[in-house]
Amino acid sequence: MIQDNIELYEPINIPKSIDDNIWIVDGPLVKMAMYKALIPFPTRMTIIHLSNGDLWCHSPIALTEAIKSKIDRLGPVRHLVSPNKIHYIHINSWMQAYPEATAWASPGVRDRAANQGIALTFNADLSETPPPVWADDIDQLIFRGSRFMDEVVFFHKRTSTLILADLIENFEPKKVGWLYRVLLRLAGAADPDGKAPLDLRITFWGRKIQAYQGYQRILKWKPGRIILSHGRWYESNGIDELKRAFRWLT
Ligand SMILES: [Fe+2]
Repeated sequence: MIQDNIELYEPINIPKSIDDNIWIVDGPLVKMAMYKALIPFPTRMTIIHLSNGDLWCHSPIALTEAIKSKIDRLGPVRHLVSPNKIHYIHINSWMQAYPEATAWASPGVRDRAANQGIALTFNADLSETPPPVWADDIDQLIFRGSRFMDEVVFFHKRTSTLILADLIENFEPKKVGWLYRVLLRLAGAADPDGKAPLDLRITFWGRKIQAYQGYQRILKWKPGRIILSHGRWYESNGIDELKRAFRWLT
């Protein structure tokens, strides 16, 4: 385990408005495997206020009473979204707090949870197209090609915001100690040149054409900003950031 310090995106556990009807919430660290080491990852969720008044929550972070009270002021939580099979761990506690909400499964997440001994019942499955309940607000696709995992990618139309989990990670070297910094640079996930980490990129070996097709569809959305689950997100120049971050596909 890497016992290295990392600065969080303070303040944490508070919804931060980034545009009309869209917030991010920076959360605490989670430990994720990278190069067989457990590395602390800062976490971030995204919340969108849908046209029908419901809240849509992407990759929910650890839930506390304090977060819950702040989010409840924004609207009723109705959708809990696991964008890929390694972003689901907190959905259970959110389901208990919001029993009316629908928990949306990403490809492979049900098996992943079962294999990890986590009892989790998703209510619905994400697919290649947005369900009618959020189709007016959010577009989506499944980014395929990896032998390890597919990620469901989302685009909030009205604010031209792309929402990614692990397809771009952009950790800031200045916020971490030297050991972590070395690992992040090896992984190719260091700001300002964040991208999918090397251990994920190599799982596309021989199947990049599938990923390239997803990448081309994302470009057609013409995103202005890109929210990431890990590290500094991109407030503008979305197209340029995509071309830089996905150059490994071209
Ligand atoms: Fe992640």
